[in-house]
Amino acid sequence: MTESSDLRLKRMPLNNGSGSIPALGFGTLIPDAAVTITATRDALDAGFRHFDCAERYGNEREVGEALQAGLAAGIAREDIFVTTKLWNSNHRPERVKPAFEASLERLGLKYLDLYLIHTPFAFQPGDDQDPRDQNGNVIYDEGVTLLDTWRALESLVDHGKCRAIGLSDVGLNELLPIYESARIKPAVVQVEAHPYLPETELLEFCKAKGIVLLAFAPLGHGMRPGLLGDPVISAIAARVGKTPAQVLLAWAVQRGTAVLTTPKTAARARENFDISALPQDALNEISGIQTRQRLNPVVKTGVPGFIPQGG
Ligand SMILES: NC(=O)c1ccc[n+]([C@@H]2O[C@H](COP(=O)([O-])OP(=O)(O)OC[C@H]3O[C@@H](n4cnc5c(N)ncnc54)[C@H](OP(=O)(O)O)[C@@H]3O)[C@@H](O)[C@H]2O)c1
Repeated sequence: MTESSDLRLKRMPLNNGSGSIPALGFGTLIPDAAVTITATRDALDAGFRHFDCAERYGNEREVGEALQAGLAAGIAREDIFVTTKLWNSNHRPERVKPAFEASLERLGLKYLDLYLIHTPFAFQPGDDQDPRDQNGNVIYDEGVTLLDTWRALESLVDHGKCRAIGLSDVGLNELLPIYESARIKPAVVQVEAHPYLPETELLEFCKAKGIVLLAFAPLGHGMRPGLLGDPVISAIAARVGKTPAQVLLAWAVQRGTAVLTTPKTAARARENFDISALPQDALNEISGIQTRQRLNPVVKTGVPGFIPQGG
């Protein structure tokens, strides 16, 4: 591991030898196209070098535009780490390579650092990303297994345009059989994780196998009431002279996960990148929070979306 005492620069090794992933990442789940471009540019300017994308977010072209501008301004391609994800309607093995190539083209890149299966749920294959029957129920695809899709991702690595592969929105039930059968092991597992959903068992498994657990919603997706206003987090923030967002991001990196955050303004990008190590007593207090709450039910159906919180 490239150990840096500076949490902002910490990188975590990937188990297939393809290098390392910056622990602090920028997520591009941003509905507005123009905001995607400015927020991605601001993230690059603030120092983020890890970018998490997905065909499902519908904005790979805009992320690509901002990344290309950064590359043109002198940032080296090897210095940025770019991930994107295969959507549920492309799980059939014959659809994987075309979906991957289309993402690459939209991003304007020659290779990807990481390609994830966005969820373990296969939807009816086709270009409709949200296939529904007359009753509004999702149409799933029983004709493909997660392992079939995984094998197709392994071929992408063989062909050289994809350096590492992984899973998203899985629990140990899905991860274990893939891990055991895989020729190329999952390098990264992306799941919702924060003090209200610490995913401790999954994290322990990942650490034991050298898999990077990549946490999304580290700020509880900014929902109020929620983590950003949690009294334990607020008290620590006041004590160490940091903001609640910085405290939550530092905790995530110090406990050994990588993390994704989505600041949408330049000021927040600078804030969210400017993390520093918390003292052990603060880490213990955060890990001791007893509230348990999942904010995104995507693991149950494959349909993404955060649950609106009351208040
Ligand atoms: N695999 C999956 O299924 C999955 C699901 C969800 C997300 N993800 C990935 O994870 C990334 C991060 O997820 P997330 O959106 O939940 O991240 P997050 O950073 O926990 O939450 C983002 C929200 O927090 C607010 N925020 C950001 N910085 C803040 C700060 N310093 N102070 C106060 N509020 C702040 C933002 O509010 P404003 O809107 O007001 O700026 C934004 O709405 C996504 O972009 C995506 O790449 C993956």
